[in-house]
Amino acid sequence: MKAIAVRPGEAHSVHMADLPIPSVDDVPDGRGVLVKVLKVGVDATDREINDALYGAAPPGFDFLVLGHESFGVVEEVGTAVTHVRPGDYVTCTVRRPGGSIFDRIGRSDITSEETYYERGINLLHGYLTEYFVDDAEFIVRVPIGLKHLHVLAEPMSCAAKAVEQVFEAQKRLQVWEPKLAFVTGAGQIGLLATLILRLRGMEVYTIARTEKPCLKAEIAEQYDATYISTRETSLKELVAQVGKPDLIVEATGSSQVAFEAMEVLGHNGAIVWTSITGGQRNIQIPADNVNLNWVLGNKLLLGSVNANYRHFESGIADLALGEVTYPDATQRILTNPVDGLENYAEMMRLLVEDQSALKVFVNVADG
Ligand code: BGC
Ligand code: ZN
Repeated sequence: MKAIAVRPGEAHSVHMADLPIPSVDDVPDGRGVLVKVLKVGVDATDREINDALYGAAPPGFDFLVLGHESFGVVEEVGTAVTHVRPGDYVTCTVRRPGGSIFDRIGRSDITSEETYYERGINLLHGYLTEYFVDDAEFIVRVPIGLKHLHVLAEPMSCAAKAVEQVFEAQKRLQVWEPKLAFVTGAGQIGLLATLILRLRGMEVYTIARTEKPCLKAEIAEQYDATYISTRETSLKELVAQVGKPDLIVEATGSSQVAFEAMEVLGHNGAIVWTSITGGQRNIQIPADNVNLNWVLGNKLLLGSVNANYRHFESGIADLALGEVTYPDATQRILTNPVDGLENYAEMMRLLVEDQSALKVFVNVADG
């Protein structure tokens, strides 16, 4: 079967590869689920792997099949599988156990091992192919009524985990009632985090570079958030107008903004960083001032990556609540379909060149 792959370590090596069709019996103990791939989303991670910034092939292969945002239909299940059946729509988690104690409680997303295993990213093939098989433990059902949001389940799981982790960590305060939130970045994670925080009743400012009118702003406003372009209003000017936020979800992909956010957080507040920044940038920060204010204000900085089964479920629940609360908003994130695996060059071109492409995804098969 066809697959879109790269040769890790070799920049711009995206190409078509060939793999045997997997079997439900590839997973022991009747726990296999064979999925026919319908759609796969791609993001900056795929672009950076193709730029050879990170990513590794599975042992025994000189290529890595890309794609970690899956959506498909169950084709066949092993004898021990009960939570999904053939015909169900599903997505699949990304990170796999790598030998840490957290694997034992289904939390490979917080592995303490330096080496991590992620489908389509590191040491395991991804989903940009025609079929995949995996352990039932990692297969998440997507309700039929959310079929139109397909590949957003994975980015939503990352946003859901980030917000959940902040609330967990803020239990240190004994009481925390965040009212004002900033989301920096209005890509898929920023917009989906905006949705989650609005569903939690916060006043949300979604902050990105692009000036209005633009699609990002329209979607944020459909969620009843306020969209701010930093070309018109800087973070500090915004704080002068609306006050310091209780919570900042950082999702720009810019380490500079990640540190700038530290200068505007309110007392007892929390920042959660969600971006992977593959570069080597150095910046200057007002370190004494930040240190002083962070200590005096009991502030918290948290990193959050990936998501486990439970975060997928809570993300999917919020996608569903989002559909009935802000109808037709979320599907507008899905801007750029590419038809067929063989159009991988167009997929990469959109990822690299098209600034207006909010979400690129590949239509692998109909269904
Ligand atoms: C993916 C995560 C993954 C992270 C780091 C992101 O693009 O959505 O699932 O853990 O990259 O590799
Ligand atoms: Zn991703």
